[in-house]
Amino acid sequence: MQEFYGMIGDSHQMREVYQAIELAANIDVPVLVQGETGTGKELVSKAIHNHSPRNKGAFVSINCAAIPHELAESELFGHEKGSFTSAHKTRKGRIELAQGGTILLDEIGDMEMFLQAKLLRVLEDNVIMRVGSETSIKIDVRIIAATNKNLQQAIEEEAFREDLYYRISLFRIHLPSLRERKGDIPALSEYFLCQANSQFNRNITHIANTGIKRLQDYDWPGNVREFKNVIYQAAIKAKNNFIAFDEIAAILPDMVILEPEESLDSPSWLAFSDETSLYDMEKEAIKKVLVLNNGNKQKTAQDLGIGRSSLYWKLKKYNL
Ligand SMILES: Nc1ncnc2c1ncn2[C@@H]1O[C@H](COP(=O)(O)OP(=O)(O)OP(=O)(O)O)[C@@H](O)[C@H]1O
Ligand SMILES: [Mg+2]
Repeated sequence: MQEFYGMIGDSHQMREVYQAIELAANIDVPVLVQGETGTGKELVSKAIHNHSPRNKGAFVSINCAAIPHELAESELFGHEKGSFTSAHKTRKGRIELAQGGTILLDEIGDMEMFLQAKLLRVLEDNVIMRVGSETSIKIDVRIIAATNKNLQQAIEEEAFREDLYYRISLFRIHLPSLRERKGDIPALSEYFLCQANSQFNRNITHIANTGIKRLQDYDWPGNVREFKNVIYQAAIKAKNNFIAFDEIAAILPDMVILEPEESLDSPSWLAFSDETSLYDMEKEAIKKVLVLNNGNKQKTAQDLGIGRSSLYWKLKKYNL
């Protein structure tokens, strides 16, 4: 199977991402990686570092959403011994640890405003000062920032500095959601199945075509991370040497959202006229019971007195 920069997917959206990685690797500018949760922002950041001339240096990552307020400056810029009560030793900050390499400022959209102001100074002057020190240290670090937030909107809401945004967003990479590139699902399935086989010591050969189709029908709000988790679960639970449709269906969230076209107490579904075909009756009945059960398919199948796979089959048949 073909991997590009450690990533799977041959869709045109992913090919654009690979081209962007290649370009960014060769130009020493800050990069902003945007995309929903689980789309591979960290993977892309590492790929840029690994293919850049900085790859002999360190790749250091810091989660800006998770630093406690009091320690934020010290985490990023370091501190001198004695600069605050618990500063028993002089310590380098993450930016300094990345000297010669790359720092990933992950979840930058969640960075506190006061820290954004300090970071902007660092980016403008290319120097840092450890907390409690008067000496500035010249830095030679590529900054990659990642976020799943809409930064433009954060700027409008005054939660993100516009000047910082322009500093970090010279080169932007947008990662597609998995639902925008469902054509990559077969390759991703094979890739994660292979990983799961070696990790869990299994020997599963494939996923049934109907199972792949079911994977493609789902919307993947958690993107590739959620996808990987589902394939791993299915591989662990598989009863045979392949993964069947039902085994995929049993793991995926069992919900469909249906907009009722009419109010629920409308009797239309029982008041079929003589001309109503059996096809329409069945379709309407299934729709009604699904809505009554808030989209829970297991309950719907029970109420209708049919098996789950038969319900799935009918949902497909009636395009529900
Ligand atoms: N194109 C891909 N091919 C193979 N694996 C991928 C791909 N994209 C993401 N992954 C895998 O999915 C998981 C999530 O990726 P990653 O941590 O890079 O996402 P993220 O965008 O940083 O997520 P978050 O916003 O939640 O931090 C990882 O296990 C990663 O290896
Ligand atoms: Mg991440």
